[in-house]
Amino acid sequence: MRPVLGIESSCDETAAAVLDAEGRILAESIASQEAAHAPYGGVVPEIAARAHLALLPDLVRGVMARAGLGFAALGGVAASAGPGLIGGLIVGSQVAKGIALAHRLRYVAVNHLEAHALTARLPGLVEGGAPFPYLLLLVSGGHCQCVAVTGVGRHLRLGSTMDDAAGEAFDKVAKLLGLGWPGGPALEALAIRGDPARHAFPRPMLGREGCDFSFSGLKTAVAQEVARHGAGALPAGLAADIAASFQRAVAEVLADRAAHAMTMTRARAPEARLLVVAGGVAANGAVRAALRAAAEQAGFALLAPPVRLCTDNAVMVAWAGIERLRLGLVDGLDFAPRPRWGLETLAAPPV
Ligand code: KG4
Ligand code: ZN
Repeated sequence: MRPVLGIESSCDETAAAVLDAEGRILAESIASQEAAHAPYGGVVPEIAARAHLALLPDLVRGVMARAGLGFAALGGVAASAGPGLIGGLIVGSQVAKGIALAHRLRYVAVNHLEAHALTARLPGLVEGGAPFPYLLLLVSGGHCQCVAVTGVGRHLRLGSTMDDAAGEAFDKVAKLLGLGWPGGPALEALAIRGDPARHAFPRPMLGREGCDFSFSGLKTAVAQEVARHGAGALPAGLAADIAASFQRAVAEVLADRAAHAMTMTRARAPEARLLVVAGGVAANGAVRAALRAAAEQAGFALLAPPVRLCTDNAVMVAWAGIERLRLGLVDGLDFAPRPRWGLETLAAPPV
């Protein structure tokens, strides 16, 4: 198969990448819109859609030039078609469809969650690519779920958050502590200087059956602790202790939920031995360490891809396109982007 172009525009990263059929990255490019959204303390959908429209054409031309390819040399075009913010999804899908139509290329409407899930199979990450089945823990700003991945298009959501996503909890607590947006990296940096045992914050869902998550109670407990110290800036030492204590609570909850999910995965697929993490929160050192320990205890290996492949990117979209094209899974140009698109409803190859 010839190389595939991937496009990502479901949230606030505009990205394009070209991979060859073996999964080698020929060129990739990503433009973060962080600065455009930061003044609002979160992603503004309309700003995101306009930014994708402004950035994407040059980004696509750039990766094609660096890959040394004309569009006609491609084997297909893949774009995130959901779930995500509809404006951005429309922009990315239309660019991909336009290229596919003009050059008679196959088009793949990629489910963004499946793209995160299949990243583990990039041959450059694990020798030959991770074999199915495995467990995916997706912890980003918008998603928090455990998924048993048994094949392309074959995913079973084992549990998910009942309120906030893990990254959302980091962002909200960072805001309470007066840190900028996105809050996760800033909170982690502050937590390094803090005492994680200083505040006994709640560990929502810890030990509960299944692998659902909940973070709103933890966030409220932090808000109450901050409020106890009155308005105005917190003393630096106190803020660091709160950050470290919060981070430890999240890490423990994620490790506990992942442990349950590993048991659930093994009950369905006894040969499963791999826990894969994805999403921005997977960049967090304390979270990674807790997950590594939980995996070891369960007899699983932890695969934490490099951060640039954990967060939103177009390499994973191109790769998901390649996996689907190899199986003959192509989409029509009439495929409408889906702001909500659960993993259970994907097209899969016949058994
Ligand atoms: O996957 P991602 O880049 O975008 C989506 O949400 O789809 O994830 C971003 C989220 C944000 O909530 C951010 O605060 C969080 O991941 N995050 C972190 C860290 N880096 C990013 N959370 C905790 N620790 C970090 N080092
Ligand atoms: Zn994502």
